[in-house]
Formats: sequence, C-alpha cells, structure tokens
Amino acid sequence: MSQTSEHPAVQILKQASDQLDAFFNSLLGRCAGAPMTLLRSIHYSLSAGGKRLRPALVLESFRACDGSPQRLASAQAAAAAIELIHTFSLVHDDLPAMDDDDLRRGRPTNHKMFGEAVAILAGDAMTTMAFEVIASDADPALIPILVRELAAASGPLGMIGGQVLDIEGENKCLLLVELRELHRRKTGALLTCAARMGAIAAGAPADTLQQITDYGGHLGLAFQIIDDILDETSTPEQLGKATQKDRHAGKNTYPTLLGLDESRHQASLELDQAVACLAPLGARAESLRQIARFVVEREV
Ligand code: IPE
Ligand code: IPE
Ligand code: MG
Ligand code: MG
Ligand code: MG
Repeated sequence: MSQTSEHPAVQILKQASDQLDAFFNSLLGRCAGAPMTLLRSIHYSLSAGGKRLRPALVLESFRACDGSPQRLASAQAAAAAIELIHTFSLVHDDLPAMDDDDLRRGRPTNHKMFGEAVAILAGDAMTTMAFEVIASDADPALIPILVRELAAASGPLGMIGGQVLDIEGENKCLLLVELRELHRRKTGALLTCAARMGAIAAGAPADTLQQITDYGGHLGLAFQIIDDILDETSTPEQLGKATQKDRHAGKNTYPTLLGLDESRHQASLELDQAVACLAPLGARAESLRQIARFVVEREV
C-alpha cells in the first residue's frame, strides 16, 4: 500500500465514493431507453473511480456547516451533479482536440473505447444529467441556487473558460498572475463550487459561506499545483493517466514557471491558508482540513 492510501482522508473519500457509486447506478437506471452505446460510454467513465474529491467536499462541507438530515438529499444531489460535470470535463479534456490522452483513471480514455463522437456526446449528456439531478432531487427552494452555482463554476467564467485559457496559453509563457487565474478557473472554480454547494445545502450563514469559499479557493489552487507537479514526478501506473506530458505540450504549469521546489512551497502556502480559513468552524471542519492536507500530500 502506498503512503497516500493510508492518509486519514482516504476513508472520507471512500465514504463519498461508495454513496456515489450507488447513486450513479440508480441514475443510469432512470435513463433506461437511451441509446445503449451512450449509456455504456457514460457508465464507463463514471464507474472508473477517481478520487471523488469534489463530492467528498460537498458532503463534508455540508457536515461542517451542521446540515440537517432533511437537507441531506440536496447535498447528495449536488455531490452527484458536480462529479458528473467533472467527469464530463475529463472526457473532453482527453480528446485529440484537447490534451489527446489515451489513459484516464487507469483505463483507456473514453474516446479510445467509444470513438470521438460518442465521447463528445457522453460528455454533453453528463452535463445535462448534472442539472437534471439537482432539479429532480434537491429541495425546491435550493434548486435555482444550486443550479446557478454549478452553471457559473462550470461555464465561461469557470472551468470551461479556464480550459480555453489553458489551450490558448500553449507554447506561450504566461506570467505567474495569469497562470494563477488559469488554474483558479479550470480547476479552482469547481472545487470552490463543491465546498460552497455543501454549505448552501446546509443553510450556512453568509460569514460561514465566505469562509468556505475562501477555503475552496486556496484548496483549488493547491490542487492544480500538485497536479502539475505530479505530471513531472509521478508515473502512469501510480496516477492512472499519462505523465511527463505538460512540458512537451507547451503547457503553462507551476513547475515550468517556478521549478519543483518553489511549486511545492507555493502549494504548502495555499494549504496553510486553506486551513486557516476554517478556524472559525472549529472541530466541525476537521474532515475538510484532512481533505486539504490530502490534496497537497497525495501521490495520486
Ligand atoms: C483531474 O482531476 C483533472 C484536474 C482538474 C487536474 P482529479 O485528479 O480530481 O481526477 P479524478 O477524479 O481523481 O480522476
Ligand atoms: C484539466 O487539467 C482540468 C479539467 C479537466 C477541467 P489537466 O489537463 O491538467 O488535467 P489532467 O492532468 O489531464 O488530469
Ligand atoms: Mg488539460
Ligand atoms: Mg489533461
Ligand atoms: Mg494535469
């Protein structure tokens, strides 16, 4: 067993993962009658695991904000929805038109298995399913709020906009301030959204929601710095995706701009700030602290 698999956060992630696997199976049941190839392609990517970090953030943020059992269904819908959006983003990120990758979550990428057309459409369908889940399963008063949160974090000013900055930045040398903005959007927006949706589902007051938002922002940047570092230092066997690719592809990353040591230092500064944001929440937020430490200490 690797060091990371013994990290205290692993149990937290596993709980989220178990809940989600059951939920996704029932969700695909709701789509019975859709073209079989499409369902197989969606199931292929959703069932391949992954760390389930975003759903864990939704559920642990809900818990840290003292969410009541009556509100849990809204948090669970948000957790499933954000993993659907994240998985769509990975399927499209791997396409030949984007990062052109053959391995994801330890398996051949979706387009390698199902072809580009079905992979694109499976990604599209996961997006619509995400909003359908919230609209169907969340508390009616929370539906417009959660839909808006997720749409904004996924859209032109969030993840999708960040992906455009990533592609347009290839073979150009961005300034650090520009790279931070790129990372905040392509990765930070969804991680912040995950933490926020849990707090919103719990009915957290404005000051707590702000603390959770600030935590998510620092965590999101730390996460992508470590993703960039692992691309240089890890192996496909360990990560379940290609490594040593970013530099060749002319990507802007923390290690290409600052080197590995300074990148690690920057990630640990973001971790410290993420944890500091949680101070007012006290012991309730211990799982969120563990998740933040995992994000920076992980080997996967
Ligand atoms: C990978 O995200 C894509 C980025 C945002 C860098 P994760 O590392 O969370 O991917 P999974 O869900 O564990 O496969
Ligand atoms: C992808 O970033 C971020 C999104 C999918 C939004 P990367 O391209 O660095 O992710 P990996 O390294 O392929 O997982
Ligand atoms: Mg990419
Ligand atoms: Mg990629
Ligand atoms: Mg990467």
